[in-house]
Amino acid sequence: MHLTQEEEDILAGEAGEGRQWAMELLVGLGRIFDAEDLVPIESAQLAGVSFKTIGEPGLGWLQDVSRSSVVSVPAMLNPAGMDPARWKEMGVSEDFASKQRAILRAYNRMGVELTCTCTPYLIGRSPGFGDHVAWSESNAVSFCNSVLGARTNREGGPSALAAAVVGKTPRYGLHMPTNRLPTAEVRVDPGDTNVDYGALGVHVGRELGNAIPFFRGIRPTGDELKTLGAAMAASGAIALFHVRGVTPEAQAGIEPERGLETLSVGPEELERAQKSLSSSLREQDVDLITIGCPHVSIDELEEIAQFLKGRKRRKDAPDLWVCTSKEVRKLGTEAVKIIEGFGKVLVDTCMVVAPIDEVASSTATNSGKAATYLPLDAFCGQKVLYRSTPMLLSLLVE
Ligand code: F3S
Repeated sequence: MHLTQEEEDILAGEAGEGRQWAMELLVGLGRIFDAEDLVPIESAQLAGVSFKTIGEPGLGWLQDVSRSSVVSVPAMLNPAGMDPARWKEMGVSEDFASKQRAILRAYNRMGVELTCTCTPYLIGRSPGFGDHVAWSESNAVSFCNSVLGARTNREGGPSALAAAVVGKTPRYGLHMPTNRLPTAEVRVDPGDTNVDYGALGVHVGRELGNAIPFFRGIRPTGDELKTLGAAMAASGAIALFHVRGVTPEAQAGIEPERGLETLSVGPEELERAQKSLSSSLREQDVDLITIGCPHVSIDELEEIAQFLKGRKRRKDAPDLWVCTSKEVRKLGTEAVKIIEGFGKVLVDTCMVVAPIDEVASSTATNSGKAATYLPLDAFCGQKVLYRSTPMLLSLLVE
């Protein structure tokens, strides 16, 4: 792997131990994956923020590196385990909250922006087409590669932090144009039904693993692309996809080669995927309704408010969490007012990385990604009901 003199110096510790550990990690990673060199990045998005996901060992490590490291490019965070202002209302314990605050302090000390969202691309933190970045949350990675046409591998929390400190990442994988070509084709024919993009993503991720699918037969909106990418990244490990006539590299002329594996998806496959995302849970037994995986956009926030406007909350309705970023919540003040007559619009957190098992055991969601993670025994331990947004909201009203 070729290193410049400056990079060699950092590796030798001449720029301090705060940059040395980061360079060691990046060079180690680059050697494993046969990277030619390091490529400068525009930004980093760091996973490994919730105390639930990183625990004491992660907190200790962050406190350690934060004594000597500072980021050198714009860096922001994935959702934390709680809304920083409303953690008590979420049922989060004082102990968890104090550990969570310590994690945020450590990132802050390193110069990381305390914007905790998995949809930085909805709040003006979008790299340009062809830019290199080091992002780590899997839906953010998918959207960044597929919809923005920027380039990132699926980074882990430590490798994204190391990239933020050095301002570079090893050039391999999806940073190379030749590795961004489709490796499978997906032909979707939903018949007379609307495409459920969460179910489609879950099905394709399960079938294709970590392929680069090229879709035909769909025309998703921006929010639907977000839903599709998140679900494929959760049920499989898909970090890049193309949609004919929609995503930028497909518009620029990328086409699948002949003879690639082809997956056909029709109404039956979509229905089977939808059903597979629910446990044997009855609507009347739901403790909590969660929307916002990935974090909701301003359009989605307004659609929810539009549905609820002028309606009355059922007396025995379950609680509602709508998860988003601080910035979207601020933009949607009117919508938030309406929604908060029925539940909470939480920021900087989500139903998966919050300690949800302390407040609920049965959760309903409209997200293919959340429905994949919520049932995991060791992680969220939930019985799950997967439904469309209007069906979920109708459980709240008289
Ligand atoms: Fe985002 Fe949490 Fe879902 S990080 S993609 S809302 S699991």
